[in-house]
Amino acid sequence: MLPKTNRQVRLASRPVGIPEARHFEIAEAPLAEPREREFVVRNSFLSVDPAMRGWVNAAQNYATPVGIGEVMRSYSVGEVVASRHPAFQEGDKVTGQLGWQDYATTSGGGVRKVRDTDLPLSLQLGVLGLNGRTAYFGLLDLGQPRPGDTVVVSTAAGSVGSAVGQIAKLMGCRAVGIAGGAEKVRLCREAFGFDAAIDYKAEAELASAVGATCPAGLNVYYDNTSGAISDAVMQHLAVGARVVICGTASVASWDPPPLGPRVERHLLVKRARMQGFVAFDFEHRTDEAVARLAAWVREGKLRYREDILDGLEACPDAIAGLYRGDNLGKRLIRLAQ
Ligand SMILES: NC(=O)c1ccc[n+]([C@@H]2O[C@H](COP(=O)([O-])OP(=O)(O)OC[C@H]3O[C@@H](n4cnc5c(N)ncnc54)[C@H](OP(=O)(O)O)[C@@H]3O)[C@@H](O)[C@H]2O)c1
Repeated sequence: MLPKTNRQVRLASRPVGIPEARHFEIAEAPLAEPREREFVVRNSFLSVDPAMRGWVNAAQNYATPVGIGEVMRSYSVGEVVASRHPAFQEGDKVTGQLGWQDYATTSGGGVRKVRDTDLPLSLQLGVLGLNGRTAYFGLLDLGQPRPGDTVVVSTAAGSVGSAVGQIAKLMGCRAVGIAGGAEKVRLCREAFGFDAAIDYKAEAELASAVGATCPAGLNVYYDNTSGAISDAVMQHLAVGARVVICGTASVASWDPPPLGPRVERHLLVKRARMQGFVAFDFEHRTDEAVARLAAWVREGKLRYREDILDGLEACPDAIAGLYRGDNLGKRLIRLAQ
């Protein structure tokens, strides 16, 4: 039996820049039995992603903004608890953009059945989810790492960054992480096996630290931050370097646009390539990435760390927390079952 009501986290007002707790409200809605070709999912874990900032801001983005009063868009993973859909049965574990809510009613668009049921369900939102796939496609397809290359990644202790560093190692590269704080730097070296890690918060001269850590320059820069970190890294590109623009975590707002040094001279002199990347463009290759990532997890070659908050009440402040750097690993919301 389905409960009569469903708790939801809705967008209450439109933020400029980083969404904070005051931009969301928790509300109840009636929960109806599914109609023909629909099913209802009880969410177990909700994802918290830096990209959600872009999903609620009015500025031009790759996705239409969430409307005021709508359930906050998010990835989640859970179990089918009622179904009138021929392809989804009660008990199936599924993942997709099911929103920040206890229950989601869907006709199945963009929803995948979980195949790797031997692994924890929460991994479908992290190392086997958007974050793992982002690391996989961004590094392998755009970064094109070769054995012996030096790969530098920012937000290195986070979900995407830690996977980038480990996949770089699996490709025979030297992995260098940039992260904020002594604990995150230690995590990069000890838990994720980076060859070196730089604490950008502790370095007065970040560019010098990058130069000292990468004396022959770096071949791939996997950029998750933009801003001052990238300004420092770009000075040390090796000839033929590939720069993957994956995230802009250090830029609080793009309105007005932030100013900074020009990169064209570095790209020209080093005959380097810089390319933007959106993981959604690779959805058609999800099965390939998840199969390979899951195999590495089972073999103990791809490690992960989760930062789990409990209850729907934790949602409203959870994105702002990512931008404060509060999270140690993939940030998730666990719902009571
Ligand atoms: N292009 C795509 O398709 C795609 C898809 C998924 C994710 N991404 C991007 O990948 C990046 C990492 O995502 P994630 O989910 O793995 O998050 P995460 O790294 O687990 O968490 C975000 C991290 O960003 C860092 N950060 C926040 N404010 C910062 C600042 N002002 N300067 C420098 N670093 C700051 C913090 O780490 P520190 O404490 O180390 O600073 C924080 O822990 C994000 O930029 C995200 O937008 C892109």
